[in-house]
Amino acid sequence: MNPERIIIFDTTLRDGEQSPGISLNSFEKLEIAEQLARLGVDVIEAGFPVSSPGDFEGVQKIARGVSGVTVCALARAIENDVRTAWDAIREAERPRIHTFISTSDIHLQHQLRKSREEVVEIARRMVALAASLGDDVEFSAMDATRSDPDFLAAVLRVAIDEGARTINIPDTVGYAIPTEFAEFIRGQYERVPGLNDVVVSVHCHNDLGLAVANSLAAVEAGARQVECAVNGLGERAGNASLEEVVMILKTREASLGMGAAVNTAEITRTSRLVSQLTGYEVPPNKAVVGKNAFAHESGIHQDGVLKERTTYEIMSAASVGRGHSDIVLGKHSGRHALKSAMEELGYNLSEDELNQTFARFKKVADKKKHITAVDLEALVSEEVRTLSDIYELKSYEVSSSSEFIPTSQVIIEKEGERLMGKSFSGGSMESIFMAIDDAVGTKGKLKDYQVHSVTEGKDSLGEVRVVVEVGDKPYAGTALSIDVIEASAKAYVRALNNAYRAGAVN
Ligand code: KIV
Ligand code: ZN
Repeated sequence: MNPERIIIFDTTLRDGEQSPGISLNSFEKLEIAEQLARLGVDVIEAGFPVSSPGDFEGVQKIARGVSGVTVCALARAIENDVRTAWDAIREAERPRIHTFISTSDIHLQHQLRKSREEVVEIARRMVALAASLGDDVEFSAMDATRSDPDFLAAVLRVAIDEGARTINIPDTVGYAIPTEFAEFIRGQYERVPGLNDVVVSVHCHNDLGLAVANSLAAVEAGARQVECAVNGLGERAGNASLEEVVMILKTREASLGMGAAVNTAEITRTSRLVSQLTGYEVPPNKAVVGKNAFAHESGIHQDGVLKERTTYEIMSAASVGRGHSDIVLGKHSGRHALKSAMEELGYNLSEDELNQTFARFKKVADKKKHITAVDLEALVSEEVRTLSDIYELKSYEVSSSSEFIPTSQVIIEKEGERLMGKSFSGGSMESIFMAIDDAVGTKGKLKDYQVHSVTEGKDSLGEVRVVVEVGDKPYAGTALSIDVIEASAKAYVRALNNAYRAGAVN
């Protein structure tokens, strides 16, 4: 018997982006959305268009540029939200409006300050409005798990009558526990027979660490859409983690009788990309995507795995895209070798992208003996990201010693013009950042600074991520280099490019 298909609704770019400190520009959102489409999720919740012009632009870019997937936009049950959401997604191949209103008495009394009757009426009007704009409408009853089940049922009935095709029952505050949540969902099926004609969805937060367990319990009780985010990103403790939900469905498909149409071999790449662009590191022991998820430390385990992998592994590293690639390039490798390595990794680079990546590859290969698949992926993503940048770091010099104050000089190119900057100040990093500010003519405040090595070994590429505040808004930038000072300077310049796009620098 074919397994029943569970719809994977990804909310990395909406609820995930609500995690503190994440600031993705519209190009980065598009890059993540393209990867989510490659991963094969069914729905991408691309953002909350009414919340800012930047969010609107990001959602619109995704709607216009990403195909083969439903593109969804969030809207409160407010007319302007619903219309703005529709304007942002109307050009998508498969657009979906997702509108929501709270149904718990706690929210009604303290936040909405509305009566139950008023909430029913608002839900009725806003779902009807959404359904008049597009035919794929999702309705969410926020804080459903703390709502009176009879009142919740009354609201869901109205939403279905007005044309919602997906009904989402969120555990907004992560309060539910699996057995109780499954009962709650069954209770709604009993009260609202119309739920059998629509898709029931769940959206679980992880405040008690139960988001994935609750999602699974709901699926066993009849839900057919799970809302989740890559690396479990989201408000507070996050959402159900996409990779865990998907790998549970794959690994236990036979017992559950349910599966997802996701290309699991893209999971690792997606997780890395999201971590790199959001700056949220994946804990080493995180299920499926953590660095140690497939590492065997104890002698007994190693012995078992060497004899037969399944002794201690319930899924293979290759099934989530962590199989060892044989790709190793070096300084003698040519353009052709690079092109075929990139194709093997799933990248079809344009002529321009290949030229830029090759030039960059040669520079790195001069200093690093072996360039692996992981290095290549990191390099190519960075090259593609910088193609639309206006400021480019052309050269830099920093002098630092134990005795004297560091001095820095930089040359930045902006549309053919060379901008020089210099500084004398406290630390060598501070000094180079100030020299960049001087060249660009701005004053950034460094809010976050992280360094990671991409692979192992002393000659590993270093990846630096900075968050720079310009005006009162944060802008993030990441960059790679064998040299950490160079990576830091480039990351800072990337953040200023993001600030430039948002109009915060000239
Ligand atoms: O947590 C929540 O209830 C939400 C809704 C907007 C679905 O994010
Ligand atoms: Zn949420």
